[in-house]
Formats: sequence, structure tokens, C-alpha cells
Amino acid sequence: MSKDIYRSRLSKSLSERARKYLSSIKEDAEFFNEEIQTQIAHVAMLQRIGIFEKEEAKRIVDALMAISKEELISSTFEDIHEFIEAKLIEKLGEVAMKIQTGRSRNDQVATITRLKLKNLLLKSLEAEIKFVKDLLDRAEKDIECLIIYRTHRRDAQVANLSHYWLAFVDSSMRNLERIIEAYHRCDLSPLGASACGGSLIPLDREFTKEMLGFSGLIENSLDAVTTRDFILDSLHALTCIMVDLSRMAEDLIYWTDMKILDIDDSHASTSSLMPHKKNPDVLEMIKARAKEVISGYGTVSNILSSLPSGYNRELQRVKAIVIEKTKLAIESIEMMAEVVHLIKYDKNKAEEAILRSESIATDIAEYLVLNTKIPFREIHKGVANIFRELSNKKEIMDRISSYFKIESLEKLEPKLLLSLRKSLGSPNPSEIKRMLSDRKDKIVYFEDFLEKHKKVVKEVT
Ligand code: ARG
Repeated sequence: MSKDIYRSRLSKSLSERARKYLSSIKEDAEFFNEEIQTQIAHVAMLQRIGIFEKEEAKRIVDALMAISKEELISSTFEDIHEFIEAKLIEKLGEVAMKIQTGRSRNDQVATITRLKLKNLLLKSLEAEIKFVKDLLDRAEKDIECLIIYRTHRRDAQVANLSHYWLAFVDSSMRNLERIIEAYHRCDLSPLGASACGGSLIPLDREFTKEMLGFSGLIENSLDAVTTRDFILDSLHALTCIMVDLSRMAEDLIYWTDMKILDIDDSHASTSSLMPHKKNPDVLEMIKARAKEVISGYGTVSNILSSLPSGYNRELQRVKAIVIEKTKLAIESIEMMAEVVHLIKYDKNKAEEAILRSESIATDIAEYLVLNTKIPFREIHKGVANIFRELSNKKEIMDRISSYFKIESLEKLEPKLLLSLRKSLGSPNPSEIKRMLSDRKDKIVYFEDFLEKHKKVVKEVT
């Protein structure tokens, strides 16, 4: 196969080092199906506008279908587009020399990147939906599981695990919206933009758009080959997901260290030396991967911001980075879903921790607001002073009773206090039940979106 089909302008082949350095063949393997589909759509369109006879187009499409990914991987071309054209010319001769009519690698690569990313975004949507459902399952079961929320890494208020999981249900649902938003931005066809400034050939862009399952066109030909904003949108959605997962990993690492939660043995690691160790390595790895995905956004926006309009070769790295980071994010979501599903709660350890902590102080203060005529700031000061002086819980309660002249506060167990919380969105069990049923209804919208769009993507690739 001649390797130099594009190099008529030059007097030499690429040096071996330059070829290897420039080649995108390895990452292009990821885009194999998308590239073949894009080729087929273009050939069908060229037939439609009279560049190919029906028979010629059929021969090309058959030849395209017969090319294997393995052939691509073992080839020594600069990229998949060059490989396929050279391969077709080798197989079919002159007729294949028309396939690049009205097309550039610039609109081609933008097209396959969008197609691939649509596919991967649906995979991340699927993983995130499953994660939300695992969180909802836990939220349903863990209403009785008391824990202490913290601010500034110090004990703050008593809550329950259900409320904690539901907090992540809500932020994950916003992430689902972000993925869908990014999906819509990917879902526009750049094919037919040509190199950057359009073409004399009467390309039927609507036709290829339909064939490739895009919902619209990215119209302006310069915009179409240049922009990678859809990649930033995708990485932004994934960054938000990874920030959440990393935060959850931090929480779980703390609670497992406190022995309030116990990570399943199948997710724990040990020490080669210290016999007692049970380490949360999967959570630590999620944190590290979060940084990798976040830096992907940084790297891509950095590269993009230094580029002039039009295709520039730096975009080859952008294409590779988004695929790699999306895969990292999907693996991390799946891993965290499994951790959440199996992590165990230790009631005794949690109650001991609550007893040791001062995290009911706020509830007590608010109880006093509601049951005395004393203004909040005065109560805040009085309760703070008592907590400063005393550490024994019974003594604290007795002192508060006498100081504020209120009946015995002994009945104010954390569980009762939770059920007294009145504000919307609090961990009061009645609020938990309301939020659970509301969120279960809401997830259906995302499931429907996934099913509908999976079908479109599957039909194309
Ligand atoms: N291998 C390139 C990439 O992955 C394809 C586009 C090359 N286009 C060009 N005009 N050099 O981005």
C-alpha cells in the first residue's frame, strides 16, 4: 500500500521518527466504527449528487465493510483516514480515488470525535443512572442509621445516612442533566464543512447528517472544523462527576476510619507488612482519577485557547484526551456504585461517636428557642458556655435545664431531635420519605432519554 497518498507536494516521505511521533493510529482504533460509518455516509452522499454511479458506491461500501480494525492497528499510516483511503485505492483502484471529493480530514475527524463522544456520553449516563439508583436503594434502607455531619472537618450536626446518600442523588441528577446538555452539543454534524471554507461540490450535508444520526448541523464551515467546545462541555460534566465522587471518597474514608462504616472486604486492600491493615485503596484511587479527569479539562482548554481558527494538529491530542478521561470517569462511577452498594453501617460505633460528640448542641439551642421566650443569640451564648465548661452529657443537659429554666431535656435523644427538624430538605424521616419518592419519579426521565438515544447511536455504529 502506498503510504504517501497525501504527500505529492513534498519530495520526501516522513522520517520514521516523525511518522511515529505524529501518528494517531493507536487512538484511532477507538474510532474505527465511527470512521467506517462516516465514510459510508459520505460515499452514499457522493452517489446521490452524481459523483459515483450506484455500482461504484456499492463496491466502495462493501470494501469499507470488509476492512478490519486489526489491519488498521498493524498499519503504519499517519492516521485512520489516510489508511482507509490508501486501503480502498489498493483494493479498488481508480474508483476509490474519488472518495475524498469534497471532504477533508478536518471535517472527518470532527465528525468521528462527535460520534464517539455521543456514544461514550451515553455510557457515562448509564453508569451515573445506575449509581443514582444504588444511592436511592441505600437511602431507602438507611433512615435509622445516624451519623454526624461535619463542617471544617469538625463535628457539626447529627443526621442520618439516608439524607447523606440523597444529597448525592441530587448532585448526581444535576450531573445527569450536564451529560445530556453535553450530548446535545455533540449531536451536530460537521461533515461537509470541507477543509474550513466549504466546497464547490454541492455536498448534501442534511443527507449525511441524517445518515449519521445527528440531530442537527454545525452550520458555519469554519466553526464546524474548529470548535471543540463540545469536548469542554463533556469534560465539564465529567469533572463535576469526579469532584462529587472525590468528595464522597473523602467522607467515606473518614467514616471508615471512625469505624462507623466498613468498606466491603472485596473492595479493601491490606499491607504487606502490617497485619492489622484494612485500607480503602479504591477510594484513594477514585480521588487520584478525579484529579486526572479534572486536569483533562485544564489541558484541553489550555490547548484550545492557544489555537487559531481552523484545524490544527494539536486537536489530535484533544481527541485522545477526552476519550481517555471519559473512560476513567465511567470506571470510577461504576466502582463507587459498587462501594456504596456494599458498604456496611455499624450502629454501635455510630452511637458511641454521637455520644462523644457535641453535635446535638444546635438542636438543643433551637429547642430552647421554640420552648422559651429567650432570643437565639442569648441561648447560643449560654449553651456555648455550658459546652465549654462541661463534657459529661448528663451534666450538660442538667445545667441547660437549670440555666434556661426548662423541664428536663433528657428525652431529647438525637433520633427524636431529627424528627423535630421542621425545615424542607432536612434529614427528618418524613422529609427523607418525601424526597425519596420524588427522586424516584425523576430518575425515569433520564432512563427514558438513555433508552431513546442508545437506539439512535446503535443504529449508526
Ligand atoms: N490524525 C488527525 C487527528 O486525529 C486527523 C486530522 C488531520 N488533519 C490534518 N489536516 N492534518 O486529529
